[in-house]
Amino acid sequence: METISSAAAATAGGNLVLILDYGSQYTHLITRRIRQLSVLSLCLAGDAPLDSISSLRPSAVILSGGPHSVHVPNAPSFPDSFLDFVEQNRIPVLGICYGMQLLVQKLGGEVTVGEKQEYGKMEIDVVRESGLFGAGMVGKHQTVWMSHGDEAARLPEGFEVVARSVQGLVAAIENPSKRFYGLQYHPEVTHSAQGMETLRHFLFNVCGITADWKMQDVLEEEIKVIKEMVGPDEHVICALSGGVDSTVAATLVHKAIGDRLHCVFVDNGLLRYKERERVMATFESDLHLPVTCVDAVEQFLSKLKGVKDPEAKRKIIGREFICVFDDFAQGLEKKLGQKPKYLVQGTLYPDVIESCPPPGSGRSHSHTIKSHHNVGGLPKDMKLKLIEPLKLLFKDEVRKLGSILNVPESFLKRHPFPGPGLAVRVLGDVTEGNALDILRQVDEIFIQSIREAGLYDSIWQAFAVFLPVQSVGVQGDQRTHSHVVVLRAITSEDGMTADWYYFDHKFLVDVVRKICNSVRGVNRVCQDITSKPPATVEWE
Ligand code: XMP
Repeated sequence: METISSAAAATAGGNLVLILDYGSQYTHLITRRIRQLSVLSLCLAGDAPLDSISSLRPSAVILSGGPHSVHVPNAPSFPDSFLDFVEQNRIPVLGICYGMQLLVQKLGGEVTVGEKQEYGKMEIDVVRESGLFGAGMVGKHQTVWMSHGDEAARLPEGFEVVARSVQGLVAAIENPSKRFYGLQYHPEVTHSAQGMETLRHFLFNVCGITADWKMQDVLEEEIKVIKEMVGPDEHVICALSGGVDSTVAATLVHKAIGDRLHCVFVDNGLLRYKERERVMATFESDLHLPVTCVDAVEQFLSKLKGVKDPEAKRKIIGREFICVFDDFAQGLEKKLGQKPKYLVQGTLYPDVIESCPPPGSGRSHSHTIKSHHNVGGLPKDMKLKLIEPLKLLFKDEVRKLGSILNVPESFLKRHPFPGPGLAVRVLGDVTEGNALDILRQVDEIFIQSIREAGLYDSIWQAFAVFLPVQSVGVQGDQRTHSHVVVLRAITSEDGMTADWYYFDHKFLVDVVRKICNSVRGVNRVCQDITSKPPATVEWE
């Protein structure tokens, strides 16, 4: 986390909001909301040591909600010295839900197990002229999202109630002279109608923070850090998957060190229709990246021959990627007369956060950031140091950064594509018959039709699946015994849950006609209308 701290502090321009995470499912939403207001926000585990907190020099601290009660033994909390630190430095603190109860308890108030519990939508009234909601808000009615069993029964000295729920429970408190604030509800969720406005007011009017976190600054800072890190004769490698993250990461590093960056793109025979030509054209013509395209089609497909088990397929693919990268690195060493020293990875902020679970979650801190499974990893004994220029960013922020780096918009908006490629979309043996070819053609027609209908950006991910079964059909007076393919299109926020996309009938009729008229070996097209859960997005 050390490098994150320094890079973060540098891009924040002295305006950083620190979230201490007590395990609420909404914690990362708070981070996102604040960043939407052009203020850098970072998250640390709720029991992070004071050193980690103070080294970020936060302009404000938000204590998140969490699933615990402050009464349970070892209830997660900030370090003892935290309150002295914020008071001495006049840093405003906002507790949300559990965070508010923690603040009340630690400052000498009383939190009790409430008789009335409040879950879901709730009405609150502002009862006092308040810093938290701004002047002139007395009597104002708001709809908010509550989720708590405990309640603040007695406030610490110097605190006032500034809003109550219609049930009469404390909904918002403050001690403006000490700069302590609390909201019993979740302003970060959209169900809290004035939540975003409340956060905005808190940051800019209460805390006096300036909205000046810009992607351009992030870009410049990252380039500076990479230039300082990589010596003038040192070399860096990067495996490009054709996805947004590795492409943006490589483009950024290339801007910093030029052609001492060496990228590799592997054609494993499991790519989509003309994928290799299309992504190589973007890498070379649009981005001027030095990329070696390795044709490993035979190598992968020969190892996958006869393999039907999905997990076995994934393992084989991961292993073969490593072999290809190893050969690439060795070839580079011969050519350059030295080993490349660094490896670029497109790790994103959610991967970093996942490796630092909140206290009380039962998960332990992991020092290994979840490796992006797009490229299958690299051999451990290569001993490469990591460059992860996107590790502070969420996916949509990476897209913004990519846009500044002139990565074509069409590329930045591409649907996700799994590392194991079409192997997770051909059920069973990928080498049997011409399954891969058929799938590529069907997928291309489906995706092009989606593009032509102007639906591509409204769909989170769309693709075709090849089933290893044949069914009876009739085409041109002939009885056929051909393959069944499936079309899948989903809407989703983050791929964790998904719903199927509702196409109109005419669209589906046209696509099915195009597929059956032009792809040999297909006589039946189905649509997958399962959500996730119970299904997954991919089929294998
Ligand atoms: P599932 O099928 O797990 O997919 O619901 C969720 C998202 O992850 C992608 N996916 C993968 N991406 N390697 C990847 O790089 C994989 O092995 C893999 N499996 C699934 C999938 O395309 C969807 O976006």
